[in-house]
Amino acid sequence: MAGWRVLVNGASGGVGSLVVQACKGLGAEVYGVCSGGNSELVMGLGADGVIDYRIHDPLEEHLAQKFGEQQFDAILDCAGSQALFSHSPRYLKPEGKFVSIVGGWSQGVVPFVRNKLRPRFLGGTPRRYDLFLLSSSGSIAKEVAGWVEQGVIKQAVIDSEYPMEQAVEKLATGRARGKIVIKVASTE
Ligand SMILES: NC(=O)c1ccc[n+]([C@@H]2O[C@H](COP(=O)([O-])OP(=O)(O)OC[C@H]3O[C@@H](n4cnc5c(N)ncnc54)[C@H](OP(=O)(O)O)[C@@H]3O)[C@@H](O)[C@H]2O)c1
Repeated sequence: MAGWRVLVNGASGGVGSLVVQACKGLGAEVYGVCSGGNSELVMGLGADGVIDYRIHDPLEEHLAQKFGEQQFDAILDCAGSQALFSHSPRYLKPEGKFVSIVGGWSQGVVPFVRNKLRPRFLGGTPRRYDLFLLSSSGSIAKEVAGWVEQGVIKQAVIDSEYPMEQAVEKLATGRARGKIVIKVASTE
């Protein structure tokens, strides 16, 4: 990833805030997409630049203007945007990768089938599309722990601490800043 130019969509969220740090720590030039109120947070994670998707609407038009000549090597979508992929030939290199981490039926499976399997002559976007879904695994946890030890990931951004019911509500807003900590009741 050293030397790559990477765009992280949803850069201020629980996953995005870690992805920004990981990409930066592995040597990439990183641009984060988030709302203006979270720009400082994302820059503080090491991003080289921030794009406020509320000011730059449509985002894809802005990306085409700003990065049309210096295209991205990878786009990591932590917010789930079909438009970002559909327009990607304007700002993602032909050999570049578009990786979505958003799962579920409508935002995960359907886009995967549409974007991965539809051939170009039927209107498919001429860029590589991957869906990255993790299941809990000790080996991955060890790798991430190694990144923390090496200073690749420097900080955990914590939105706030909530009891389980409120944590689910907060998560459903899609407006978390970093990770939501679930407060587990003590048995004592
Ligand atoms: N693949 C996996 O294994 C895996 C693991 C965990 C989570 N996920 C999925 O990954 C997604 C993100 O999870 P998360 O925990 O990071 O969620 P989150 O903490 O709720 O973050 C959502 C972020 O999205 C941003 N956002 C909302 N609308 C946006 C838009 N139109 N454009 C750009 N950014 C936007 C928000 O930032 P602003 O307020 O700054 O806009 C917020 O920070 C979810 O769909 C989740 O299910 C996948």
